[in-house]
Amino acid sequence: MSERETASPVPEAEGMGRRAFCLGALATGLVVACGGGGGGAPAPAPAPPPPAGPLTTTDTKADFLATPNGTTRDYRNLGNFFLIHDATGIYAMTAICTHMGCTVGAPVGGQIACPCHGSQYDLGGGNLVGPATSPLVHFQVTEATPGGFLAVNTAQTVAANVRLT
Ligand code: FES
Repeated sequence: MSERETASPVPEAEGMGRRAFCLGALATGLVVACGGGGGGAPAPAPAPPPPAGPLTTTDTKADFLATPNGTTRDYRNLGNFFLIHDATGIYAMTAICTHMGCTVGAPVGGQIACPCHGSQYDLGGGNLVGPATSPLVHFQVTEATPGGFLAVNTAQTVAANVRLT
C-alpha cells in the first residue's frame, strides 16, 4: 500500500477537465494555450526551465526514507521536479513533459498526467500514454550537507534506476 503526499501544491489545472480549464483560460485571456488562436491542435504552454544546479529541498534523507513507499513531494514551485520515495530509495524526476514541455500534474494514483495533450507517465517516469514517447528524466539527489536537507541537481541527469539510500 502506498500513500501520496504533496508538499507545496501547485495551483493549476489539476482536477479540472480540459474544457473547464480552457474556459477558465479564455476568461483570463489565455486563448492561445487552448487552441483559440486559429484552430487546429492546442498549443502547449511550455514550462520555464528550472534554475540549473543544486536546489535545496525541505526534506532530509532520514525523514523522507521514513515515509511510506510511493510518497511524493511536489517541488514544481522550486525547480519543476518531484521528489519520490519508492521501495529502493529516493529519486527526483522532472515535472516537464517530454512531448512539448508543459508542466505535468501532480502524481495521482501512481500516475502523472500532462494537461496539454494527455500524455501519461508512471511514478518512475515511464510512458503510459502518448503523444509523449520519452520518459521523464531523473536528476541527481544528494544531501546538501551531511544529514541535512536533500538537494536536487537539475543540471545533472541520472539513470532512472539511481536511488539515494
Ligand atoms: S506537452 Fe504535449 S502531452 Fe505534455
